Amino acid sequence: MQDTVWLDEEKDLLCYIDQTLLPNELKICTCNNIFDLYDIIKRLSIRGAPAIGVGAAIGLYAACARFEDESEDGFLYSFRKSAEIVNSSRPTAVNLSWAVRRMIKCAEGARGSGVEGIKIALKAEALAIYNEDIETCKMIGFYGDTLIRDGARILTHCNAGALAAVRYGTALAPIYTAHENGKSVSVYADETRPLLQGARLTAFELAENGIPVTLQCDNMAASLIAKGMIDMVLVGADRIAMNGDAANKIGTLGVAIIAKHFGIPFYVCAPLSTIDPFCESGKDIVIEQRNASEVTEMHYKKRMTHKNVSVYNPAFDVTPNELITGIITEKGIFKGYELSTIEQLASARA
Ligand code: MRU
Repeated sequence: MQDTVWLDEEKDLLCYIDQTLLPNELKICTCNNIFDLYDIIKRLSIRGAPAIGVGAAIGLYAACARFEDESEDGFLYSFRKSAEIVNSSRPTAVNLSWAVRRMIKCAEGARGSGVEGIKIALKAEALAIYNEDIETCKMIGFYGDTLIRDGARILTHCNAGALAAVRYGTALAPIYTAHENGKSVSVYADETRPLLQGARLTAFELAENGIPVTLQCDNMAASLIAKGMIDMVLVGADRIAMNGDAANKIGTLGVAIIAKHFGIPFYVCAPLSTIDPFCESGKDIVIEQRNASEVTEMHYKKRMTHKNVSVYNPAFDVTPNELITGIITEKGIFKGYELSTIEQLASARA
């Protein structure tokens, strides 16, 4: 499986698949500049919460490897300013601020080893964040697979697959694991308006990996579930509050309500780094609002609505914990009310 983001260790470059071009072109691009990194994340060339976190960490390193500051203070000042810029690129995916905080802590911790010493420490930290993502997603796949029966028909929304992380992904990891373990699984992918991450990305990566996938428009999910054609729902998350409320791609809430109505299990798959220890409930989650043109123009030859029509375009919605059957993490499967008992999260809050 091709990685989504990685570090070219010889040239100190962030390498990434430009996801805006998929599925028509698989183009590998590079970046070593903080303003380019901001744009790449903002315009969704690198997208999906875990991939954003890893891309930000590697991109920050690639940019600061080129800083010419000779004093530690000068270097750390430039580094913090760069970290602020990349951190402001997207507000909802908490993996971004999580990864940026880790890089800042690492830089401060290496103070005293000289500018070159700090750069070496930052390279090691970026690689650690990259490697941890691969292992974490493998474990989400392991735990999630225990819930998947042979022949399962699984609905997913948006793209929480390999393209949304380094490899494997979160919501698609259990599906890849079940497939590797010889189970027959099929996936129904919501197209995911307005940016079509389901149609362009989820359908692409599943088809490339030999997993049967059927595409449907978002408004078809209810009729599919009502007809008994879906056994379970697996989705990712951009931020999970400590009470288990989960923000994910706009439209996820509707799927959760339908799943509850028809008695279908609805699981959120996410690494612990997506759980925000500083966020009590979904009400505290900042929801990114995006440009109206994504709705009215992006996928059309001409503007497809009257010029005086205003547009509501939030990128995410929040599913309340009572609609979530379980949260599949690298440490096991939890109910929302159990999150505060996870040691790593509890100690971050203390
Ligand atoms: O706007 P996007 O494409 O970055 O939104 C992505 C999602 O909503 C994913 O479901 C989420 O980040 C989880 S990715 C493992």
